[in-house]
Amino acid sequence: MTVVGTRGATLTEGRADFPTGFVWGAATASYQIEGAVKEDGREPSIWDTFSRTPGKVVGGDTGDVACDHYFRHADDIRLMTELNLAAYRFSVAWPRVQPYGKGPVNTRGLDFYSRLVDRLLEAGITPYATLYHWDLPQTLEDAGGWPERDTAHRFEEYAAAVHARLGDRVRNWATLNEPWVAAFLGYGNGVHAPGRTDAAAAFRAAHHLLLGHGMAARALREGGAEEISLVLNLSPVITPAQVDDPGAETSEADAEAVSRVDTLLVRQFVDPALRGEYPAEFLDIVGRNGGVGHIWDGDLATINQPIDLLGINYYNPCVVEAGPGEAADAAWPGSEDIRFCPADGVPATAMGWPIVPNGLSRLLVRLSDDYPEVGLLITENGAAFDDVVEDGRVHDVRRTEYLDGHLRAVHAAIADGADVRGYLVWSLLDNFEWAEGYRRRFGIVHVDFATQRRLLKDSALWYRDVITRNGL
Ligand code: NOJ
Repeated sequence: MTVVGTRGATLTEGRADFPTGFVWGAATASYQIEGAVKEDGREPSIWDTFSRTPGKVVGGDTGDVACDHYFRHADDIRLMTELNLAAYRFSVAWPRVQPYGKGPVNTRGLDFYSRLVDRLLEAGITPYATLYHWDLPQTLEDAGGWPERDTAHRFEEYAAAVHARLGDRVRNWATLNEPWVAAFLGYGNGVHAPGRTDAAAAFRAAHHLLLGHGMAARALREGGAEEISLVLNLSPVITPAQVDDPGAETSEADAEAVSRVDTLLVRQFVDPALRGEYPAEFLDIVGRNGGVGHIWDGDLATINQPIDLLGINYYNPCVVEAGPGEAADAAWPGSEDIRFCPADGVPATAMGWPIVPNGLSRLLVRLSDDYPEVGLLITENGAAFDDVVEDGRVHDVRRTEYLDGHLRAVHAAIADGADVRGYLVWSLLDNFEWAEGYRRRFGIVHVDFATQRRLLKDSALWYRDVITRNGL
């Protein structure tokens, strides 16, 4: 029997066919793969500084060489071709384009992205460019970083410069990647660069990131960009009982905890970007954490630019209940009376993240219900496992199962009416996993960091077949 969903997804006895035109691809980010940190006029970003600070990154790893993609991008595009990818999401390194974060554009830095885009197009692969994936020029951090309003203006200028050079060939643009992480891990708990621990600064950073998004989106649109998106790390927020049973009842106190964390993680970003407003409860929290003086009249209108797609990075649900956490995590100011719980009874990845594919269906359907005006693109989904190379192969069965489970969840959401346009796996290559360094491998392609040899993992071969069939 074949069941046809409202948006053209079909399910035939265990087979899952995706809608025609569904976009299949893979994603990476500049600092995680490029290396070449001193090449062609690039100056340090906050991640160069942070990764050189003892104790910040596991093993003292840095992005100095990473996957050496700056010099090997032509080979990497050949791998993408082998995998049949239709789309490739990469990010542009601001410190290559404007090494000091403002002023004249460094043409040699932009030349790299121009070559990359040309080669992708020659290979028939659609480039998806992300303008900010966390590598803020160090000079801008020295001037105060994202907690300073001026950084949003600088971002607008940079975005316009990149678009002016690549906009004749790149149609799909994302402004920011995961502003929650940039603000609350960068300035809240200090686990990411620049490593500051100041709740008020984190809230200011988040607002200025959003403002920068709005300004950049407006500049891109004026420049003629066709498809504009904002990429967020979104998780459904659930109680421990809902890990197994999505319909499990919730006490009033737990429902309040769920709603507050959802406000901090999801609505803090989605509501201003898509509705031009902050939730009232959110403004109360900011009011208690340094005040709302940085939110100026007119900012919300600037942030609320029409966008075409919401990019969703999904890895796991966020499990919470009422009751004080053991030590309140400084990444979550405003939720000191909430406990962040492990997801008992489900397997986890090497990051310790619980594997809950139905969390993705839940998230997608909710977003399409609550914000029907915007299309959805899975801009990241994937998993780290402790892969081993055996006789020239990587039998990463658990990654394939993870991807299969999550793709079925995407399919189910489409069948339920969610407007999901495509799926980009995180990541093409094993790479620099931020504070975890190189020990956490998310790639569908294995990288031997001593030799830079690439090896398609079994999951990559499986993914190629999924793409070829446009289904599971
Ligand atoms: C989301 C981030 O965008 C990406 O840079 C990171 O590697 C993955 N999550 C995995 O943690």
